[in-house]
Parts: sequence; C-alpha cells; structure tokens
Amino acid sequence: MDCENKIAVVHNGIIENYKVLKKNLQNEGHQFRTDTDTEVLAHLIEEIHKKIDDLHKAVNESLKLVEGTYGLVVLSKEEPDKLIVARKGSPLVIGVGENENFIASDVAALVVHTKNVIYLKDNETAEVTADSFSVKTLANNFVEPVIKEIDWDISMIEKGDFDYFMQKEIFEQTDSISNAFRGRFNANLNTARLGGVNLKPEQLENIDQIVIIACGTSWHAGLIGEYMIESMARIPAKVQYASEFRYREPIINHRTLVISISQSGETADTLAAVREAKEKGARVMGITNVIGSTIARETDFGSYIHAGAEIGVASTKAFTSQLTVLFLLGWMLGRMRMLTPEIGAKYAEELIKIPEKVEEILSYDDHIKELVTSNGIPTNALYLGRGINYPVALEGALKLKEISYIHAEGYPAAEMKHGPIALIDENMPVVFIAPNDFVYDKILTNIEEVKARKGKVIAIANKDSKGIEDIADSVIYIPKTISLLSPLLTVIPLQLLAYHYAIAKNCNVDQPRNLAKSVTVE
Ligand code: G6P
Repeated sequence: MDCENKIAVVHNGIIENYKVLKKNLQNEGHQFRTDTDTEVLAHLIEEIHKKIDDLHKAVNESLKLVEGTYGLVVLSKEEPDKLIVARKGSPLVIGVGENENFIASDVAALVVHTKNVIYLKDNETAEVTADSFSVKTLANNFVEPVIKEIDWDISMIEKGDFDYFMQKEIFEQTDSISNAFRGRFNANLNTARLGGVNLKPEQLENIDQIVIIACGTSWHAGLIGEYMIESMARIPAKVQYASEFRYREPIINHRTLVISISQSGETADTLAAVREAKEKGARVMGITNVIGSTIARETDFGSYIHAGAEIGVASTKAFTSQLTVLFLLGWMLGRMRMLTPEIGAKYAEELIKIPEKVEEILSYDDHIKELVTSNGIPTNALYLGRGINYPVALEGALKLKEISYIHAEGYPAAEMKHGPIALIDENMPVVFIAPNDFVYDKILTNIEEVKARKGKVIAIANKDSKGIEDIADSVIYIPKTISLLSPLLTVIPLQLLAYHYAIAKNCNVDQPRNLAKSVTVE
C-alpha cells in the first residue's frame, strides 16, 4: 500500500533499482512499512498520481522509471471498479468473462472461470473493469488485444478421485503420453511429423550442433533428449542449464539449433536464454506445454507437448510428454539423415506400446506404497543409473527431494566409486535403474558393490532380467521397451516412490515448501 492506504499493488518480479527509487521517494516524505522492492511501486504510483490524474497514465509514467521485472496489478480506493495491470518479464494473463474479467499469472488459475484469455506482452499495460479492457503501451498508445482460447477443460484442474494433483498427474500419463504423439506419425515414410517443425533436409544440413536449454525437470528431459537426438540423428547435442547459458558466452551461431524446453513456457532463465540465442543468430525451437506462453511465442518454431494443465509443483506428466516429443524430434531428424525406414518403423511400433506399459507400471502402485511403508523413512537416498537412464536417476532424486525433503542424489552408476560409495551403509537406500539393456551386466556389478557395503537396494528392472532378484532387496518390475524409450517407463516408479515417501512424511505433495510451479524471476 502507499502512504495513504489508497493504492494497493500486487507484484510478481524484482524491481532492480528499488533502492534509488525508495531513497528519492523517502526524500519526498514517503513512509515505508516494509523492506520489499514491491512497496516502492505503490509509493511511486502514489507520487506520480498526484501530478497525473488518470490512474492508467500514472502507472505507465511510473513504470518508465522502473528497472526490473513485473507482473503487476494496481488498485486505487478511489476507483474501486478498475484494475490497472502491467507486464515486463513476469507473465500476466487477463481472463475475459461475461460481465467479469480476471487477472492471473498462469492460465491454470483461470480455467474454472473462462477459457478466453489475453496474454499481455512485455511493456504492455491494461485497464480492466468487470465489462471492459483496454491495452496500451507504456507510451499510452492503444494496442488491439488478441483473445486466445485455452483448450484445457475443468476436469484438468480438479482432483477427481485423487488426493493430490501430483498423484492425479502421475496416473494421467497413459493419456498424456498418447496425446503427445497422437497424429504425429507419418506412416508412409516411417517417421514423425511435427507440424511446427518445418525444417527441410537442406536446412538441417546447415545445422552443425544442437544446444538444449532448460531448468529443473525440463533440464533432465533435455539430458535424455541429448541421448535420443545424438543416437537417432547423429548430430552433436549438448544440454545447458538456461541460467548458466547466457553467462558463459555460449558458442552458438546461425548453424546452431537451440531447443528450449519449458512446461510453463514462462521460466525467466529459459526465456532469457532463448533471447540470448536468438540474438546470436541461432534458430530457436520451443518445446512447451502452455499454449500461447511467452517461450512458445518468442521462439522461431516449436512443438507443444499437449499434456494439459499440470498443477502439482513437482513436474511429472509434463516430463514424460517432453520425452515423447524429444523422441519424435530425434526420430524425425534421424530419418532426414541416415536412419533407415526399417528402424523408423520399429520406433513407431515401440512408441505406440508405451501408454499400455505405463498403465501396467501404474498398477503396481500398491506394491510401491508397501515398499515405502515397510522399510521406514530414510534421511538420505542415492539414485543410480547408466546411459540414457542416468538422467532418470537425477530426476528420481529430484522428485524425492522436492516433495519429501529427503536428501537424495542422482549419479551415473559407475561414478559411485569416485565418491558416493563412501556414504553407503545399512541406512542408505540405493535406487538402481537397471532395465535390461547393454549396460545391464555392469549395473549388476554396481549393485553387488553396494550390497557388499550393506546398502539397501531397490531396483527398477525388467521382468525377464536374470540375477537381479537374488541381489536386490526389492525389485519393481517394468515392461520392456527399446533403450531410447526406457526413460518413459523407468521414471514412473520413481515418481510413485517419491509420492509415497512424501505422503508417509505428511508433506504437502502439491505445494512443497519454498518451491514455485513457474519461476518467473531470475
Ligand atoms: C520449477 C518447477 C519444476 C520445473 C522447473 C522448470 O522449479 O518447480 O517442476 O521443472 O521450474 O519449469 P518449466 O516450466 O520451465 O519447465
């Protein structure tokens, strides 16, 4: 609030020059009640509003002095029927209803009320009442707002028979994976068809490297995408944390294809990395879930994962849908290069079978719950995997940390001997991701090393795998698929494990402490 408690603001973002603004305002006699950067906005608008009577114009004038990011709502007691909203860097969506309008930072919050939304662009502001809205630039020029329709329905934002959204989203993966590949096969050519990716073979020839940028769980999807793309398309690929990318003078140019992965399409670091890559002349693709999100709009081209609304803070179904799209992309790029139609046909066959295999794993939920309840709650856990399942180990550990607050680390299994092995004792559960692929025998050796040090082994393995039952303390069996698709299956028991540990610890699974669904500040 301002000094007079007349102007209130709601702010998401960071005002970088708030100290200077605050000092100036204090010199003018403004009394501050908090140390927040946000409060500065209320006083600044109060000050400017003294000279400019029109509240919208006063907000615009104030924002010209502000450096930083904001998704902002301003309300004045004198005009209680009107909200002034503004956006720079942090998302802001206007929900358009009948005789009612809404403001939110994420469309998921609006679906119960309306499916028609206006995504405000950076440096745009709007005046919103119950039955009107008008969008302007900071220079007070009117902008024609574009109303988009969200294709999510209300059931997506209701828990239904589930206790938590995360649980519901884990169980939705049979459908969400199908939705990610539905209509994306080109049967004649045994390849994938991604409508938004119009790369011609001659354009692909000009690409000499792929750089994947993302944060959090999307970064783990990127690591798996790296394996998929390199293996199928034989193009060098590397993955970078979006937050690190732009501070290391990345070596990219017009021959680089940058793929940004983001469920929300709003993560500030990923967005900043997209802008940096574009500035350096790279072609930038977006793999996002939220239609019309900033990354979806600002990238040169892209693919939606069509996972539907993901409400649980810890990402689950978006992850497997991202993997599905990355697989389709690798397959498509591969077929444009040297991958044979026979192998292409095999990929189609295997991908189609994934949803029913996911369903089978989900039916082991009680067994996984039992495993958690009968073994007690550890304080630490180690997740180990090799090859394409090493990033799955990272993701399994992240899921556990995020929602149950149990410390967990993911490691490539063979690296265990270079450090984590020192941690292993009878209190340390070690989760091995051990599908029956070409590194299976090596994983068995790693398991023996853990058992020799009295560690408790939980293994994720295929039914026909030999030897694992004799050495692991518990085995969660999963159906077999090709190695490149195995992360879509191996991650499911890990999501369920994390979920049941969190429930056993009475944690708020959907809203873990200190975490946010979309991180819209740097
Ligand atoms: C936050 C969420 C994670 C998510 C990450 C990246 O940290 O809690 O679940 O993976 O942001 O979000 P994005 O929307 O870019 O995929």
